[in-house]
Amino acid sequence: MSSLVLSERMQAIESLVLSGKPVADIGTDHGFIPAHILLEGICPYAILTDINKGPLERARQNLCEFEVDPTKYELRLGSGFETLSPGEADSVIIAGMGGELMVSMFQEAPFDLSCISRFVLQPRTHEEALRGWLTQNGYCIRDCVLAREKDRICEIYAFEPVAEDISVPDIGLVSEALLHKGDPLLVQYLNLKIAHARAILGFASRSVSEEGTIAAQHYSDILDLLTEMRKNV
Ligand SMILES: C[S@@+](CC[C@H](N)C(=O)[O-])C[C@H]1O[C@@H](n2cnc3c(N)ncnc32)[C@H](O)[C@@H]1O
Repeated sequence: MSSLVLSERMQAIESLVLSGKPVADIGTDHGFIPAHILLEGICPYAILTDINKGPLERARQNLCEFEVDPTKYELRLGSGFETLSPGEADSVIIAGMGGELMVSMFQEAPFDLSCISRFVLQPRTHEEALRGWLTQNGYCIRDCVLAREKDRICEIYAFEPVAEDISVPDIGLVSEALLHKGDPLLVQYLNLKIAHARAILGFASRSVSEEGTIAAQHYSDILDLLTEMRKNV
């Protein structure tokens, strides 16, 4: 057992990585996830990338401190998929960034990403945008899990490439895959979303402007949808 203990969010990310195959972690920052994956022998090799020198240096120091075998990893500076070549990694982790930034990484990838078996993605914002874009562009949700992080609950997905004509769009307010899986945190997750929608509705309802009225109607509809979903869980 390594002395590196991952947070609940990072453990959930690790649990979706394909074992026995090389992994890449784009936007690694501290490098804790690939460090733990290597220390536990889950994957034989890891590529750690980041767009900024500071985080990459932090990752280098952390892996050194946790005595990760230096022949088992590589650190690369650069943006998104530009730091990888086809066939180098079976799983790619991208975690802790906005969903829209992740979509732009997929759109700007310099090679055909269908050679990568699995993408383990944890968007911090715009989860629907990421899920919607991927499931409409040749990816399916193979697995999904919720994980608590401080006062929020994160969505974590394992996306895999599929033929575009068989990918099923998952574009609702809450992922169909998440609703079907019945994650133990699902009710709490819906409660957080309901509280958020209720707070915005309260704010919008106090506005006398036309925009305020439109927003109030929009959030009232969202609140109804979420309440219905929670009833059916
Ligand atoms: C909030 S940290 C997340 C760290 C880690 N992935 C996690 O989930 O704990 C985001 C990291 O992504 C890096 N980053 C932002 N945009 C990037 C891009 N286009 N390509 C690669 N790394 C990026 C940042 O420098 C930062 O280190």
